[in-house]
Amino acid sequence: METLKILTYPDKFLSEPTKPVENIDEKTQNLVKDMASIMYQAPGIGLAAIQVGINKSLLVYDISPRDEKRSLQVLINPRIVESEGTTISEDEGCLSVPDFRANVKRAAFVLVECFDNKEKPLRIEAQGLLAVLLQHEIDHLNGILFIDRISSLKRGIYKRRVKKNLNNK
Ligand code: NI
Repeated sequence: METLKILTYPDKFLSEPTKPVENIDEKTQNLVKDMASIMYQAPGIGLAAIQVGINKSLLVYDISPRDEKRSLQVLINPRIVESEGTTISEDEGCLSVPDFRANVKRAAFVLVECFDNKEKPLRIEAQGLLAVLLQHEIDHLNGILFIDRISSLKRGIYKRRVKKNLNNK
């Protein structure tokens, strides 16, 4: 534990598609625990395994309000089976893209099929914040970052900033 850390852009690993989880075994449960603690510590509301260097189709999230009890959700091998409408997510951000936010065009409604960590099949109908979060996290599992979905002009501004910071190190 605590050997995992959050990878950030431009780490090439973040653009790799992930492999399906084949066994929800003890190793998977330990990964879920580690990812949850990293996410809460960050703090963030969602985290995909690829962001901590694990090439598996698994994500965790918790969108419960901060003053309420934690409600960790674990999605294994999730896929979007239906999507409808469009919305613009305001100030979308990502733990792997620090210090940058942007509005992103997203589907307004999604239907996601997956398993939870007790091997129970789930179907999640989502809109609003949850729909955006699921699209963002499932994008990670396909090697896509939210900055891949904004205009090349805006992306260029961020890329130049990152390059400058790397050169100054
Ligand atoms: Ni992200």
